[in-house]
Amino acid sequence: MERRLAGKTALVTGAGSGIGLAAARRFAAAGARVYFADINLEAARAAAAAAGPGTAAALPMDVSDESSVAAGYAAIAADGPLDIVVANAGIQLFGQDAKVGDLGLAVWERTVAVNQRGAFLTLMHAVRAMEGRGGSIICTGSPTAVVACGQTFTAYSSSKAGVHGLARVAAADYAGAGIRINTVVPGYTETPLVQAIATDPASRAGLVNATMLGRAGTAADLEGIMVYLASDDSAYATGGLFTVDGGLTA
Ligand code: NAI
Repeated sequence: MERRLAGKTALVTGAGSGIGLAAARRFAAAGARVYFADINLEAARAAAAAAGPGTAAALPMDVSDESSVAAGYAAIAADGPLDIVVANAGIQLFGQDAKVGDLGLAVWERTVAVNQRGAFLTLMHAVRAMEGRGGSIICTGSPTAVVACGQTFTAYSSSKAGVHGLARVAAADYAGAGIRINTVVPGYTETPLVQAIATDPASRAGLVNATMLGRAGTAADLEGIMVYLASDDSAYATGGLFTVDGGLTA
C-alpha cells in the first residue's frame, strides 16, 4: 500500500457516506490520520472504526452550524496540527429543488446553508488551523455550478457555484501562506445523494448517455484525485477545478 500521506492529519466532512467516505478511507490507507466528520455520527463512527483504530476518528459535525464546526476544529487542534481538509459535506433536495419561480425559500436556504455556508465555515476554520505551516484544502464542487446539465437544480447549482468561487478566491488569498485550495468536480456519481436519479430510469439513462465513457461514476472513481490533491504530488496545483465526470461536461 502506497503511503503518500504518511505523517499527515486530515479532516473530511461528509465522511459517513459516498465520496467523502471513499476519500477518507483512502487517506487512511495512504497513511494519514483521518477525522471522519459527519452530521450522521453513527455512520462516521462505523466508517472510522472500519478504517482502523489509531488512524481514524469519528467527529460529530454539522457544517451548517458555526458552533458545531468550531467545536470540531477545537477537538482536532487539541490533538495536533492539521494538514488536509476536504470540505465535502453536501445535500441535494431532490423533488423540492425547482425552477426559480417555483422554488420555496426554505429549500433554497437549507441547501445554501449546508453546501455554501458549510463550505465557508469549513474553510474559515481550515485556513486558521493551517496558517503558519501550510496545507491542502479540497472542496467538492459540481458540474451544476458551471453548466445546466439538463436538470432543474436552482438551489443546488447556486450553492455549488458559491463553493467554486469561494475556493478560487481563497486559493489566491492563501497561496502566500502555503495553503493550496482546489475543487474536485465529480460528475454523476452513484451515491445515496443521487438515489432519486438512480431509481428513475429515464433520468439515469439521460445522465449516463451524456457521458463519453457511457457509465455512471462511483465514489471510488474520485479517490485518486482526492489523494493527489491532498498529497505533495500536487504542490504546483492551486485554485484549480479538477473534473472527474466521465466526459459529461467536456
Ligand atoms: P452522500 O449523500 O452519499 O454523502 C453526503 C454526506 O454528507 C452524508 O454522510 C451526510 O450525512 C453528510 N452531511 C449532510 N449534511 C451534512 C451537514 N450539515 N454536516 C455534516 N455532514 C453532512 O453524497 P455524495 O454523493 O457523497 O456527495 C458528497 C459531495 O459531492 C456533496 O457535496 C455533493 O454535492 C457532491 N457531489 C456529488 C455528486 C454525485 O453525483 N453524487 C456530483 C457532484 C457533486
